[in-house]
Amino acid sequence: MTVEPIPSEQELRTLVGLVDHDTGADPFPVIGWDALVWIVGNATQAAHFLRSAFGMRQVAYSGPETGNRDHRAFVLRAGAARFVVAGAVDPASPLAAHHREHGDGIADIALEVPDVDRCVRTARARGATVLTEPRDETDEFGTVRVAALAAYGDTRHTLIDRSRYDGPYRPGFVARTGGPIGAPVFLAVDHVVGNVELGRMDRWAGFYRDVMGFTDLAEFIGDDIATEYSALMSKVVANGNHRVKFPLNEPAPGRKRSQIDEFLEFYRGPGVQHVALATADIIGAVDVLRAQGIEFLDTPAAYYRDPALRARIGHVRVPVAELERRGILVDRDEDGYLLQIFTRPLGDRPTVFFELIERHGSLGFGKGNFRALFEAIEREQEARGNL
Ligand SMILES: [Fe+2]
Repeated sequence: MTVEPIPSEQELRTLVGLVDHDTGADPFPVIGWDALVWIVGNATQAAHFLRSAFGMRQVAYSGPETGNRDHRAFVLRAGAARFVVAGAVDPASPLAAHHREHGDGIADIALEVPDVDRCVRTARARGATVLTEPRDETDEFGTVRVAALAAYGDTRHTLIDRSRYDGPYRPGFVARTGGPIGAPVFLAVDHVVGNVELGRMDRWAGFYRDVMGFTDLAEFIGDDIATEYSALMSKVVANGNHRVKFPLNEPAPGRKRSQIDEFLEFYRGPGVQHVALATADIIGAVDVLRAQGIEFLDTPAAYYRDPALRARIGHVRVPVAELERRGILVDRDEDGYLLQIFTRPLGDRPTVFFELIERHGSLGFGKGNFRALFEAIEREQEARGNL
């Protein structure tokens, strides 16, 4: 069994655009992602899917066999990323109610912090809703300190200090390992995107800025691009070292119904729209995933034929023909370029999906692709005399 190594800090600089940050003066220091906790209709099969298609390995488990009669939960790793997939066993479980309302989705974006109490004090003073007060959870591997804050919709942020803990995940879970069934395809979580209601994007960007001390990243899709090209508006906030990046979308009145409106309808409110998985080899990853039956969004041939594409992207590490064959998109900014592709929705509802991203210096999120895709399609329309 091959286990991919956990990327070093140096490797994370390239993979996800990590930067230096002094946490000394930070009232809400965040080390990074702790886990993305999914509530799904069938955790047993979701865990298998993530191992077989996305090359994750299982490290821990909680369920009836370990004394948890409420639900089953599987902890999976790929590089620095940790996912937990949980599904109700008891029909009275709160997980069953969550799943009935939202379908498969991410209920908790858990963040690792060095000082839970300090974070909660700061958050409360700045108006955040504290869902779980700081408390210790202990087992034979040590103690974690945890609390939870409310985020958009029914999404929460568990805050966890695991500096005094040496177990496989956290108390309540036992080590239960299982290798990847498919080849590993990603090494870290790059960003997690939230969809919120019309007019709420600024409020939630403000929450991350004011409550959690995040800063705005430059990439911003405002009215100008929004209404004409994408039918969404977007802002990005990040923690001090840029390990945690939250783009936030809201619907914009476009020419047709916004994809964000569709998400809000089917998720029954705000929630996580997509998780970007960082890879050092997007070509290999897409080939493996397609062979394993994962479907990606189509990219029109016009996107690659567009003479403006080459002028926009300059030199990239693979020939454009290789990108076109796989439908991989390219974007460039002043710092470099990125390669990206989006899967179709992962579950039955048209809600959460994955992105694969390979960064080469760019710290962006693919904003140029909104306009490029739109313009490429319009050029084809024009060629047909239909514009
Ligand atoms: Fe993204």
